[in-house]
Amino acid sequence: MDWSVSDERLAPQPPKDKSLGIAIVGCGEIANIAHLPAYRAAGLRVVSCFDLDRQAAERTAEKFEIDEVAESLDTLLSNPEVAIVDIAIHMYGRREVFRRACEAGKHILLQKPVAHTMEQAQEYVRRARESGVKYQVNQQARWAGTHRQIKTWIEGGAIGRLNYLRLDMRGWQDDPEKWYVRQENMTLVDHGIHYFDLLRYFSGKEARRVAAMHAFVPGQLHISPVIYAAIVDFGDGLIAEHNFNNKVMTDSPWDMCLYADGEEGSAWCDFERVRLERRDGTRIEAKPTAKWFPDGFLGPMADLMDAIADDREPACSGEINLGTMRLVLGALESAQQGIVRQWAD
Ligand SMILES: NC(=O)c1ccc[n+]([C@@H]2O[C@H](COP(=O)([O-])OP(=O)(O)OC[C@H]3O[C@@H](n4cnc5c(N)ncnc54)[C@H](O)[C@@H]3O)[C@@H](O)[C@H]2O)c1
Repeated sequence: MDWSVSDERLAPQPPKDKSLGIAIVGCGEIANIAHLPAYRAAGLRVVSCFDLDRQAAERTAEKFEIDEVAESLDTLLSNPEVAIVDIAIHMYGRREVFRRACEAGKHILLQKPVAHTMEQAQEYVRRARESGVKYQVNQQARWAGTHRQIKTWIEGGAIGRLNYLRLDMRGWQDDPEKWYVRQENMTLVDHGIHYFDLLRYFSGKEARRVAAMHAFVPGQLHISPVIYAAIVDFGDGLIAEHNFNNKVMTDSPWDMCLYADGEEGSAWCDFERVRLERRDGTRIEAKPTAKWFPDGFLGPMADLMDAIADDREPACSGEINLGTMRLVLGALESAQQGIVRQWAD
């Protein structure tokens, strides 16, 4: 068996039909450094943008040559060229934007975490279904080349039956200038959802139980804990361990290390490199070109566009994402209450 890496196959591909018009709601940092550069590189059509801060919208429109700087959300939604609304604003205000986009019959890409409660996450799924629009969640880490490769190896049987996942994450986001230091449960829920989603993505299963602990670091600026550690039981002999220190005090705090161990071998990656080692002596190492930022951001949007064209469920739809929401909120509940959160199914 040839387990070698094909770099082109790992990169998110442009959609079959690039003509669908995209509108961005929220012209902040993530739209400017990730969504829009990825769409531009793939030749997608961004036809309108709106931000409560008009100057932010104007700057973004100029930089990315977007035709319309909408006066209001209504203006954006009434533009017939707009087929997809890309919601890249914080938690607050999203419910209203989502509701009105559904009413206008626009398909939706929503930033992760879609909500901080299950009820809200479920409401989005229900509303999109009732309105007959497609709804994708921006969990773009699934489209990073390193993660795509590990998933391909797992699905192809390269590491055999999966029994252990480990994801160690380190970084620093204790920046007083940023909105997220004031976002409740930023480290575990807002940021950590990427890693819980990856564990679910690799496992191909729903979590049966999760136990987590979290901690404040003396002197931290964040309003919620910046360190956590979690253990997830996916059942059938698959355990995952995941931890995140979001206040590493070094010059280069960002690092990630992921192991996926199975009966035939092991896969590993960090932000850049990915490796397969099998018990038959196979050893492959690669540096996929497609990164989380910005390349990964093409993945959820292109897949949504193909899902619209093919009238199918998007790969990371709001409904599929409910399992990730359940897991991350279960981990939070466990950490806050000192319990093991279990699910019957
Ligand atoms: N997927 C990822 O890897 C990733 C990375 C960073 C941020 N995010 C998510 O993206 C979201 C935005 O983060 P950011 O760093 O770009 O924030 P930001 O503060 O830089 O930008 C948010 C923008 O939204 C605008 N805005 C707020 N409410 C609005 C509304 N109701 N209508 C129109 N515009 C509105 C603000 O004026 C601001 O310009 C957050 O929810 C965050 O969790 C995701």
